[in-house]
Amino acid sequence: MNARALRQRLESLQAAGVAEIPKNSMRGRQPTAMGQRAATAASQAPQPVVSTAIADDRIASLRILAEQVAGCTRCAELAEARTNTVFGVGRPDARICFLGEAPGADEDASGEPFVGRAGQLLTKIIEACHLRREDVYILNVLKCRPPGNRQPAADEVAHCRGYFERQVELVSPQYICCLGTTAAQALLQTTEPIGRLRKRWFTYGSAKVICTYHPSYLLRNPAAKRDVWDDMKVMMADMGVEL
Ligand code: URA
Repeated sequence: MNARALRQRLESLQAAGVAEIPKNSMRGRQPTAMGQRAATAASQAPQPVVSTAIADDRIASLRILAEQVAGCTRCAELAEARTNTVFGVGRPDARICFLGEAPGADEDASGEPFVGRAGQLLTKIIEACHLRREDVYILNVLKCRPPGNRQPAADEVAHCRGYFERQVELVSPQYICCLGTTAAQALLQTTEPIGRLRKRWFTYGSAKVICTYHPSYLLRNPAAKRDVWDDMKVMMADMGVEL
């Protein structure tokens, strides 16, 4: 990489909220499945820098909220069936939040959002944006797996609303990317379908909101990856990052 390209790359990362990069983290980048340059392998990647008192407060508040979620029995069916509640993962002061629908079997087993096939695709999307999972914050509307991966019921979304809204408030991102219909409709409190919510900016508190297709949909309809990539380019360009 020449000096100009390196400078541009560093400016992009800074604009995306990456505060620190170790010496060798710019090496070894490979093209990804989405045809873009991926973030470096995790072993070479910078660790998130979360050292301010504000971030410490957020971490403590998020932990308390996660404990409340872990003991939640508002949805009797879900609470009974779950192995783990699935709270959220990533930087407590991330500039970008990705909001999904609900845990699946892999997430229920591990307690971490987006670790199954759809999660691996989400990780690729994040990396294609020159970021790593650790640079963003990932959460779901529902904190428990709906049995059989059925769609969340309206009362279940209502029961979890206080949790995901507080979570977003604590992280206080500048951008929220809603993944799929359930996330977009729950956050924006609308009944419009995802097709009509894409390609528009919304606001949620002080955050800009963009909506795109859910990674699970992309697994069933790979042709829609191009649309998601277009949405990511719009979001990253707004952050000052050219993809
Ligand atoms: N789908 C989601 O919406 N969330 C997950 O955590 C996994 C799959």
